[in-house]
Amino acid sequence: MAGSAAAGSAAGFGRFTHALVRGIPASLATEALRTAAGGADVDADRARREHHAYVEVLRDRLGLRVVQLPADEDLPDCVFVEDAAVVCGDTALITRPGARSRRTETVAMKSALEELGLNIVEMTDEDATLDGGDVLFTGLEFFVGLSKRTNQKGAEILAEAFKDYAVSTVPVLEGLHLKSFCSMGGPGLIIVGSSEPAQKALKIMQQMSDHHYDKLTVPDDLAANCIYMNLPDKGHVLLHCTPDEFPDSAKVFEKLKDHMLIPVSNMEKVKVDGALTCCSVLVNKTAHI
Ligand code: GLY
Repeated sequence: MAGSAAAGSAAGFGRFTHALVRGIPASLATEALRTAAGGADVDADRARREHHAYVEVLRDRLGLRVVQLPADEDLPDCVFVEDAAVVCGDTALITRPGARSRRTETVAMKSALEELGLNIVEMTDEDATLDGGDVLFTGLEFFVGLSKRTNQKGAEILAEAFKDYAVSTVPVLEGLHLKSFCSMGGPGLIIVGSSEPAQKALKIMQQMSDHHYDKLTVPDDLAANCIYMNLPDKGHVLLHCTPDEFPDSAKVFEKLKDHMLIPVSNMEKVKVDGALTCCSVLVNKTAHI
C-alpha cells in the first residue's frame, strides 16, 4: 500500500484543539478484555479517579475542548475510545474493532465526530477489522500493526480513507496493539520499548519508510505509549508514565529538554491493557472543518 506521494511535511503535527473521551462503566472491573488472564483486580472507582485526572490534564492544563461521551455498562471497554476511530485532518475513519464485544463502541463515537463536523468514513466491510491502537501516524505516513485485532483488509481501508499518506503494515508479535510498545514523541521521533519484538517492529518501520526517524528507547514497553502534542503557547508537550509506574522509563523522558513533560498515572487502566493514547481521540478542528 504505497499510497499516493506522502504529504511530505509534518507541519502542524501534534496540533490539537479537541479531545473526545468516554466515562468508565462499573463493568470495566469485571468484564473488560485483558490479554493476561488472572491479572490484578481492577478498582473501577480508582480507574475513574485516574481517568478524571487524565481528562483534567487535557482540559485544564492543556486547554483542549473536551467532549465527554457517557459510559455504557454494556460496553466494558468503552473508555478506550482510540480504538473506535482514526482521525487525521478533517477525516474520521470509524473503525470496525477486532473484538466483537467492542463493535458498537463506534456508534457514540461516530455521532460525536459528526457533530464536530468531520468527514466520516465508515469501515463497513465485514472482512475488515481495525483498532485505532494499531495505528501510528507520524505526521508523514501511517504504520498499521497487524495484530489479533487488526487485519490486512482493515489496513487497506485505512489507506483508502487517508489517500494522501503512505500506509505500511507491521506485524505485532507481542502485546495487544502496535502502540502497546511505541508512539510518537515529536516530529520524526519514535518512542519505543526495549523488548526484542518492539525493537524489531521499529526496525521494520524504519526499513519501510522513505523518512528518517530518531528513536528514544525506554526500558519498559508499556511506558513507550505516550501522547505528543504541539500546542500554541506550550510548544512540545508529552504525556508519559509516572515514576511510580515505571521509574527507569520515566527518567529517560527527562532527556527531552524541549518538551513540557507531564507524567500521567495509568495504573488501573493498564491492568486491562489500556494505555495513555487509548483513552482519547484527538482532533484538530481548524477553520476549514
Ligand atoms: N481492554 C482493552 C481491549 O482489550 O481492547
